[in-house]
Amino acid sequence: MRSSEWFRWFAVNEAADSSATYERLSLALADDDRLMAMVDSLPSAKRQPNLLFAVAQLLEAPTEETSAFLNFIERRWEQVSAEMKLRSTQTNEAARCAAFLPLLAQEQKPISLIEVGCAAGLCLYPDRYSISYNGRPSLVESSCQIEVAATGALPYPVRLPRIAARIGIDLNPLDVQDPDDLAWLDACIWPEHQDRRDRLGRSAALVAQDPPRFVTGDLVDELEAVLAAIDPETVPVVFHTAVLAYVDQRGRRDFADILHQHPEARWLANESRWVIDAAESPTLDLPNELGSSGFLLVENGIRVHAQCEPHGRWINWLEPPIAGRQLRPESTKTGKH
Ligand SMILES: C[S@@+](CC[C@H](N)C(=O)[O-])C[C@H]1O[C@@H](n2cnc3c(N)ncnc32)[C@H](O)[C@@H]1O
Repeated sequence: MRSSEWFRWFAVNEAADSSATYERLSLALADDDRLMAMVDSLPSAKRQPNLLFAVAQLLEAPTEETSAFLNFIERRWEQVSAEMKLRSTQTNEAARCAAFLPLLAQEQKPISLIEVGCAAGLCLYPDRYSISYNGRPSLVESSCQIEVAATGALPYPVRLPRIAARIGIDLNPLDVQDPDDLAWLDACIWPEHQDRRDRLGRSAALVAQDPPRFVTGDLVDELEAVLAAIDPETVPVVFHTAVLAYVDQRGRRDFADILHQHPEARWLANESRWVIDAAESPTLDLPNELGSSGFLLVENGIRVHAQCEPHGRWINWLEPPIAGRQLRPESTKTGKH
C-alpha cells in the first residue's frame, strides 16, 4: 500500500467514527503529494498514520487548522521523521482488558497472566479496575473506572479472577513512573478521547503501586522461557491486544506454534480481524454478516467469542462462539492502534 492509500484508508476506516481531527488531517495528508513522498521515504513499518499523528502530538503540532498542521510537518520533517524512526505506536488502553475479564473470571485456579506486547502493562490489571458492562455494578471499587457497552450474550463476570502473577513482554516496556514514557503514552491517545487521557492517568497511578514483572524482548524469543518459569500451581494465560499487526507473518506463525506446544496455557487474543488468522489456524473463518469493524476476541486461535471496539468502548458477545471455517485477510497493514 502506498502511503497516500494508507492515510486515506486510515481516515475512512479507523478515524472516521472516532476522531474527526485525525480523519480531516489524514485525508489532507493523503492529498499532499510532497508530504506523501516524504513519508514514502521512511521504512515501510514507519509510514503508519497513527505513528505520524502520535509524533505530531508529542511535538505539539497545531491540529485545529489543517494548513498549519501540514506546514508544521513539512517544516519540522527532520525531527518528525527522526522520532518516527525511533519510536513505534505504544497506545496502552486499560479498557481493552475488559474484553478478557469474562473469560478470566471463569477460571477456577489462580492465574499467571502473561501479556505479550504489554507497553506499560496497563492491561494486566483486569481485577483492579472498576469494570462496568452496560452500567451494571462492577466487582471491585477502584479509582480507575471502565465503562463498556455490551451487546449479545455477554457472560457477566460474577467473581474476580485470582491473579497470582503479572508478566509483560515487550520490545520496549514503558515505565509509568517515567515522565518521558508517560508523555509518549499520552501522545498516542487521539485528540478527542479525553476520557482515555483521564484513564491513562488513573490506571498508571494504580500500576505504579504494584508494577508487573517486565521482560524486554521479542514475543517469539521470550515466551518459551517465561512459560517454563510459571508456578505449576497456576494456569498460564497468554494474552495480547493490538500487537500482532506489528509482527510479520512468520513471527505470528512462530508465536502460534509456541502456544500450540503448550496446551496447558490458555491463549486469548483481541486483535484486528485482518491479522488474527495469520497467527493461527487455517480453519478459522468468520461469516460476512459480522462486518469488518472492531477487533476479534479469539481463544486458542480457534474460538471467536466477541467483536470488540479497538479502544475497548463496546463488546458484542457471540454465543455460541464461532469456529471452524476460514478467515481470509485482505491486508496485513491494518489494525495498528
Ligand atoms: C499498540 S501497543 C498495544 C499495547 C497494549 N497491548 C494495549 O493494547 O494497550 C503494541 C505494543 O506491542 C509491542 N510490540 C510490537 N511488536 C512486538 C514484538 N515482536 N514483541 C514484543 N512486543 C512487541 C510494542 O512495543 C507496543 O508496546
